[in-house]
Amino acid sequence: MVKDLNIDYYKLLFALSTALDFTGKGLMKHHIRVALIAQQIARKIGLNENETSEVVCASLLHDIGTINFTEKARLVDFEVQNTYDHCMRGERLVNSSPLLKPLSVVILCHHDRWDGKNKTGLAGESIPLASRIIHLADRVDVLIDSGRYILQQRDEIIKKITSLAGVFFDPQLVLALVDLARRESFWLDLTGGNYERILLSRIKPGRKNVSMEELLSVGEVFARVIDGKSRFTHVHSRLVSLVAGEMAELAGFSRDHCRAMRVAGLLHDLGKLAVPESILEKPGRLTPEEYNIIKCHTYYTYRILEMVEGFEEINLWASYHHECLNGRGYPFGIDGKKLSAESRIMAVSDIFSALVEDRPYRLGLSRHKVEQILLEKVKAGDLDAKWVNLLLENYNQLHELKEACSMDINKTRC
Ligand SMILES: [Fe+2]
Ligand SMILES: [Fe+2]
Ligand SMILES: [Fe+2]
Repeated sequence: MVKDLNIDYYKLLFALSTALDFTGKGLMKHHIRVALIAQQIARKIGLNENETSEVVCASLLHDIGTINFTEKARLVDFEVQNTYDHCMRGERLVNSSPLLKPLSVVILCHHDRWDGKNKTGLAGESIPLASRIIHLADRVDVLIDSGRYILQQRDEIIKKITSLAGVFFDPQLVLALVDLARRESFWLDLTGGNYERILLSRIKPGRKNVSMEELLSVGEVFARVIDGKSRFTHVHSRLVSLVAGEMAELAGFSRDHCRAMRVAGLLHDLGKLAVPESILEKPGRLTPEEYNIIKCHTYYTYRILEMVEGFEEINLWASYHHECLNGRGYPFGIDGKKLSAESRIMAVSDIFSALVEDRPYRLGLSRHKVEQILLEKVKAGDLDAKWVNLLLENYNQLHELKEACSMDINKTRC
């Protein structure tokens, strides 16, 4: 059974950064390209492996504090104003995970100007070096026009950046960038799409043992990002995680097994980061087209978690939560016989949580109504009677988790 996992930390971050890169225009791969540029600058100025690793990891998550597609679109403007909010939110988010905490200050300062005038109060060399590198790499990436041939753009990008050396950017870093930019390969690396492979070939492997506690803390951070997309689902991932973990415990699973279920619960809706908030927040029935868009979310959860070696089981538990026993679920239409107990528990936990939570078009449902809907779904062959019965036998205990989640979110808001 799943215990502490030996995973490639970079691959975990690649996966999570992919989830952060969904925008209103599709998957933009901004974080990984910033990491590619930043890694080159870091090595050029002589940073060692560990320092470079910090730069790469922070690059991969630097915009984690952006809430929605509107804010992401705004940050693509080169001379964007009011950048502090997403930096601060990002800092707070990663601070809550012992594994990610070392990146928090770097993320806080990643838009700080060299000449000062920053809300952090920092200027020049007092800004963390990793933040200065990411700021520069980030602005290079937003200047690239994906609709034009890259080598036709390099002179104008470098001209723009050098005009701001000593104002926005650390002049020494700009010199390093100018040197790197002479090589065509520097630019061509940013166009081919093989970003992960190129980056992995340049950095020391990031394999390490990650404890379940650490994974839970990273999962919590991402659950906050996912749930933060809509005020109506602001505790959903955490509630599903707690309900699935508690049901696993009631079923007699081991402690590690229950914690792995909680990780899967926290990440089950990771693919919702690809869904426009206008659909998530719609105060009425979804059109068939909108429903089709919603259906992509578990597909993306699967494809993203698939990137993490060691996450094979957790991926199936997380990504199959809309699959049904009768084979009529989505997106894979898995034959019910192939659905594991964990995936079935996750499906029950997800529906239960969605029913007891408020939605844009209704308040959380009463026990009577929840029971009725769950039993109808058993009758229709969607859900497994065994796990629905376990939930109904322990209804009050599981329902109390909703209050615990709401209190927790209120605490973190204060
Ligand atoms: Fe940013
Ligand atoms: Fe960015
Ligand atoms: Fe879902």
